[in-house]
Amino acid sequence: MTEQHGVGERHLDALLEREVARFERTHQRSRKAHERARESMPRGVPLHWMANWPTPHPVYLDSAAGAELVDVDGHRYVDFCLGDTGAMFGHANPVVADAVAEQARAGCTTMLPTEDAAPIGEELARRFGLPFWQLATSATDANRFAIRIARITTGRDTVLVFNGKYHGSVDETQVALDGDRMVPQPGVAPNAVDWDRTTALVEFNDIDALERALSARDVACVLAEPAMTNCGVVPAEPGYHEALREITRRTGTLLIIDETHTISTGPGGYTRAYGLQPDMFVLGKSIAGGIPAAVYGMTAEVAEVFQRYTAKDGHRISHAGFGGTLAGNALTLRALRVTLEQVMTERAYTHMTALAERFERGVLDVIERYRLPWHVTRLGARVEYLFSSRAPRNGGEAKRFRVPKLEAAIHLHLLNRGVLLTPFHNMALMCPATTEADVDRHTAAFAECVGEVVA
Ligand SMILES: Cc1ncc(COP(=O)(O)O)c(C=O)c1O
Repeated sequence: MTEQHGVGERHLDALLEREVARFERTHQRSRKAHERARESMPRGVPLHWMANWPTPHPVYLDSAAGAELVDVDGHRYVDFCLGDTGAMFGHANPVVADAVAEQARAGCTTMLPTEDAAPIGEELARRFGLPFWQLATSATDANRFAIRIARITTGRDTVLVFNGKYHGSVDETQVALDGDRMVPQPGVAPNAVDWDRTTALVEFNDIDALERALSARDVACVLAEPAMTNCGVVPAEPGYHEALREITRRTGTLLIIDETHTISTGPGGYTRAYGLQPDMFVLGKSIAGGIPAAVYGMTAEVAEVFQRYTAKDGHRISHAGFGGTLAGNALTLRALRVTLEQVMTERAYTHMTALAERFERGVLDVIERYRLPWHVTRLGARVEYLFSSRAPRNGGEAKRFRVPKLEAAIHLHLLNRGVLLTPFHNMALMCPATTEADVDRHTAAFAECVGEVVA
């Protein structure tokens, strides 16, 4: 299995065994924290994703600042995971930390808007091109609300997503292709949703499949990342976005672009960089500097429907329930405003992108040195390597290209040398505090690891 990827199976097994032993020897306090937490939390973690690292147990955090983490055993790490994008603009950014501390003392949540609301709406409109905005507490929620509005607006039921996608835990989107068949993904009860009515699933970059799926004009919306990022990076092929927009418009289908990860592309996301024209736009995770928040934007036409459904009827109020009680609260608005105005700046992106290019070059040099059939893709400040000679065209290919054991070995080796990648794939993000020395540390550790496992 691994030989075709240029890697020796025996070398890999030996490396894994050695690195697991090294990890266990050096992470005793994390082990104890985990043992205790297992008594009251499934898998010993407050969020099950936190147990998905390639380590025998999770590393428990002591503190994080800039691009560095410190664990409870005192190890320091260069953090390229950055909270799986949630901390893309660095940990404990002093501007955000001060604003949050100040607002926490002035009240967090009141069911009243603050004067931060309008400047936020105006800045989002300027960056992403849509005139009206709402808040949610997570990107999952924002996607849920965007889909709901699309259904109300079009009077149709179905949401179309792409095989290999992840848009959060929205039940209707938790499907995968098994051959030609759409099947629910593990973790979603097969009877949870009437899938045939609610969901359509096609491969990314396949214009004919998209045309066929939308031709009956019964699909409310397409929910898409502009480049897929949750199965490795799947770039959009030239012309795909133009076709996606043309077909959705022609068939009366709304287009929702989810930029939660691709905001790495630049301060206006992929949407501004490539001139996309979505009907709705979703962005979560990083935008409030680590405070839970998401935004969703909409055209004037969609906003009109939204206002109608949420309006008061005389003294009768609407229980439409877009957004939760804590969405758009004073604390979130403060964190979001300072992040937009002072952290997600052109200058920060210039720095992050230059470092991502350095990271990409470092990985490419190693791939070339060992003549490995691997490749590396970059979306602005986000870099990802995958064990195939070219980028996948779609989610199905991306899944076939992955080699979980090799991924685990590289991640564990790097972690033991103070370098953290995102555990779910080989993804590295640069933040405004990342340095050239941080990047070079990854390159050196990656080269050492690859040198050990090549066939
Ligand atoms: C593209 C995309 N959208 C939405 C989400 C959901 O984000 P959250 O888990 O913060 O709700 C994710 C999570 O990884 C994502 O990758």
